[in-house]
Amino acid sequence: MNSDLSKTQSFFELYDLRRSDALDGKRAHVVTFGCQQNEADSERLRGMLATMGCSLAERAEDADVILLNTCAIREHAEMKALSLLGRFKALRKSNPELIIGVLGCMAAEPRRVDMLKRDFHYVDFTLPPSEIHKLPAVIAEVVQNRKRTFVPYVSEPRIVEDIPVSRTSTFKSWVSVMYGCNNFCTYCIVPYVRGRERSRDSAAVIKECRELVAAGTKEITLLGQNVNSYSSDLTFAELISEIARIEGDFIIRFMTSHPKDVSPELIEAIRRYKGKIAPYFHLPLQSGSDKILRSMNRTYTKEKYLETVRALRAAVPEIALSTDVIIGFPEEEDGDFLETLDVLSTVRFDMVYAFLYSPRNGTRAALMENRVERSVMDARMARLIEMQNEISLECNLPFVGKRVRVLVESSDEKDGVLVYTGRTPDARLVHFKSCDAELGEFADVLIERAGISCLYGK
Ligand code: SAH
Ligand code: SF4
Ligand code: F3S
Repeated sequence: MNSDLSKTQSFFELYDLRRSDALDGKRAHVVTFGCQQNEADSERLRGMLATMGCSLAERAEDADVILLNTCAIREHAEMKALSLLGRFKALRKSNPELIIGVLGCMAAEPRRVDMLKRDFHYVDFTLPPSEIHKLPAVIAEVVQNRKRTFVPYVSEPRIVEDIPVSRTSTFKSWVSVMYGCNNFCTYCIVPYVRGRERSRDSAAVIKECRELVAAGTKEITLLGQNVNSYSSDLTFAELISEIARIEGDFIIRFMTSHPKDVSPELIEAIRRYKGKIAPYFHLPLQSGSDKILRSMNRTYTKEKYLETVRALRAAVPEIALSTDVIIGFPEEEDGDFLETLDVLSTVRFDMVYAFLYSPRNGTRAALMENRVERSVMDARMARLIEMQNEISLECNLPFVGKRVRVLVESSDEKDGVLVYTGRTPDARLVHFKSCDAELGEFADVLIERAGISCLYGK
């Protein structure tokens, strides 16, 4: 959308952190719900806390500050956050000095903020996602003046660069390239809580990636609500190509793409930089019915979607594909649902994430009539899962007996044996036993068994 530098501000120009010592020696507990953008935001929250002299507490019970980074995508996500928040009431009672902040997408919904103001008196502040750089100022206000602070949502915020980051992993890194969304799919709350689309300056993104690779990162995931709508002096295809040209042994992923913005140039970039750009594409379908897609404002048809899949596979035959599906959008009839199943059986995705439609306040779909009954949704979900489980297993079976390259992400002791977990470049989860695997390194794993959602090997 823009690469206009005047739309970018530096965190350090905005705040004099030497004066933000309100949390010196204190401990904070950060809870994250929702998507990778929230994970990335929480790394920035922790980074700012560290800059303010605050360390982290594993348990909420040990914290002087609790930050709840929430998600609003479905009712269930909001309820989870609110129920956890409810549990913090007792903590506040036993420690009146405890500071509690609600951040993330719920903090951008006026209706939710009103509710927090009214019914959750122990919430000291709310801070929407585009404003997280204000954390030091807000906390200073709360601590020094004991004043409840509710930072309003901004629909066209500026990009703030250089927010301190405290990364959770040394070898897997999130890099946000664009923020917000302009697509207004009729079911979705994201455009109302994350604001208008804005892209970071390409030079800043590339510099961040270079530094991460130099520091030893093995996997960079480029993030954006519609990462492939990135637009500055470079297109997304150009940006990812530039990053792929950085020397080093690392792989590049990106999340989430909109089918309308999968350009031939992007497909060509994935083909050309195969070793670097992971052969994996998450391409949310939502529905296979043209009627429903139109009503969702997705701007593509079933046939157009299938065309994109064919183009991806023609260029990169081994590419793994996954998708999101919404079940029970208003007016979804059996025939519409069968169209969705038809796409699933035609494409044979490696993985499908299916969600029951959840009406979101303020969106167009929330006003639509002919809601699908819960029992019908549940039956459709069960049918979809049964069909997809079989496909996912069939996609995994050919790997048995083969060696795959895996980035080793974690290890866990099970019945006295150390079991490692990692991911292949095409995003398959692998559990394996090993004598010499190192976390954060690539390992060659011999696959012995395949499951629906993972592979097992040694
Ligand atoms: N920007 C991404 C997705 C963001 S939300 C995209 O366009 O694909 C992640 C997924 O949540 C969506 O793909 C959709 O399948 C699901 N989702 C979003 N709003 C929803 C709602 N109101 N009810 C149920 N599922 C929803
Ligand atoms: Fe939501 Fe659609 Fe934007 Fe994705 S593209 S964030 S589903 S409005
Ligand atoms: Fe949830 Fe906000 Fe992400 S609504 S899915 S945390 S953008």
